[in-house]
Amino acid sequence: MIRFDKVFLRYDTGISLRDLNFTIEKDEFVYLYGDSGSGKSSILKMIYMDMFPNSGTVDVLGADSSNIKRRDIARIRQRIGMVFQDFHLLSDRDIYSNIALPLELQGIKADVVRSKVTLKADELGIRSRLSHYPHELSAGEQQRVALARAIVNSPDILLADEPIAHLDEKAAAEVVKYIWKIHQSGTSVVYATHNEALLKKDPARAMTLVSGEVVKDRQL
Ligand SMILES: Nc1ncnc2c1ncn2[C@@H]1O[C@H](COP(=O)(O)OP(=O)(O)O)[C@@H](O)[C@H]1O
Ligand SMILES: [Mg+2]
Repeated sequence: MIRFDKVFLRYDTGISLRDLNFTIEKDEFVYLYGDSGSGKSSILKMIYMDMFPNSGTVDVLGADSSNIKRRDIARIRQRIGMVFQDFHLLSDRDIYSNIALPLELQGIKADVVRSKVTLKADELGIRSRLSHYPHELSAGEQQRVALARAIVNSPDILLADEPIAHLDEKAAAEVVKYIWKIHQSGTSVVYATHNEALLKKDPARAMTLVSGEVVKDRQL
């Protein structure tokens, strides 16, 4: 479902990713593990088709980075959810509208939106927060809202970019638990982290990155 083939990515500042070759199958949970600057976020952005390789190809859900059309990018992104370390919630919308946003953008009917939003809010333990605003929630709750928004469309793939970096231990553990739950319900997860303890606690396939190269790819 995700395939990188001889991928190189260059920023103005120089080459940052070199010769990436890997496949991620449906139903996998994969860590991108490496220090800051090793290339984790850049890989997630290429999967999201927010950036394109300078050479090589990235294939995501049957779409090929070397010839995808602009309108098809939006279609692919509807099948991918993404969460970040700083939750990216809209501060002027209440929690309900934050979660509903991806559905509203697709013109889905209000009653269908309502049932999907309440279902996901229930699953993530934030149902009682729907009429609140982001600043009224704890950091852990805000990340659960971001997760609900990311999966409200039932995506095939969830991309998580250091999602617990700004959370205390208890909130972090809870968010991680929900990400695994989402995975178990049939969503592939690509999870970027520099946190070795996390890999030990919840073992999965881990691709280790050093300076833009995959130096290890193994099942923990
Ligand atoms: N917008 C950018 N412009 C220039 N260089 C960038 C940009 N984004 C990332 N880089 C460089 O690409 C490399 C990988 O960065 P990144 O993918 O953000 O790594 P990570 O997420 O692992 O911290 C780093 O050397 C970083 O400095
Ligand atoms: Mg990063």
